[in-house]
Amino acid sequence: MEGERHQIEPEELGYSLANLAEVMFPCLEAIEARSVAEIGAFTGSLTSELLAWAAPRGTQITAIDPNAEGKLVELANEHTELELLYERSNDALRRIDLPDAVIFDGDHNYYAVREDLKVVEERSQGGRIPLLIVHDVGWPHGRPARRKSSSIGRPSGFRRMRGRGAFW
Ligand SMILES: C[S@@+](CC[C@H](N)C(=O)[O-])C[C@H]1O[C@@H](n2cnc3c(N)ncnc32)[C@H](O)[C@@H]1O
Repeated sequence: MEGERHQIEPEELGYSLANLAEVMFPCLEAIEARSVAEIGAFTGSLTSELLAWAAPRGTQITAIDPNAEGKLVELANEHTELELLYERSNDALRRIDLPDAVIFDGDHNYYAVREDLKVVEERSQGGRIPLLIVHDVGWPHGRPARRKSSSIGRPSGFRRMRGRGAFW
């Protein structure tokens, strides 16, 4: 995964979660989120929308992406309410204070997401589990997303998992 670069901006292909802001943000408002983590932020298309939403609310945003680039880096330099972590989600989730909401849009492999969810569950023991928003679970059209995420560190049985709603 490190070193990989998306060739096409999320806005161009329309796959940025920024397109779903009108669905997501009311969910964040419903739980009165004071802190939100975005796993997989790439060039910051959703992050910039999150920042605009968060500003009047005083909500803290954490963007987690080892390959963060472009506008996202500029946003992190300009906004103290945005923390940018150049880390894999599983490492970051073990270390940071658990936010009120976590948006999963990083490694789209079933194993990676499952391991992240396990960390969130373990760390939530005795407390409130964050609101979990997971992108591309059944995309496209119920087939696994064919993303080129690295399979390094992933058990072989999870490298090419297929099935309805499964991650690639
Ligand atoms: C689909 S893009 C994110 C798009 C962004 N959320 C948006 O809506 O505009 C996926 C990003 O996930 C990052 N990524 C892949 N594996 C990751 C991991 N294990 N932890 C954090 N980020 C990861 C990639 O570097 C890539 O930038």
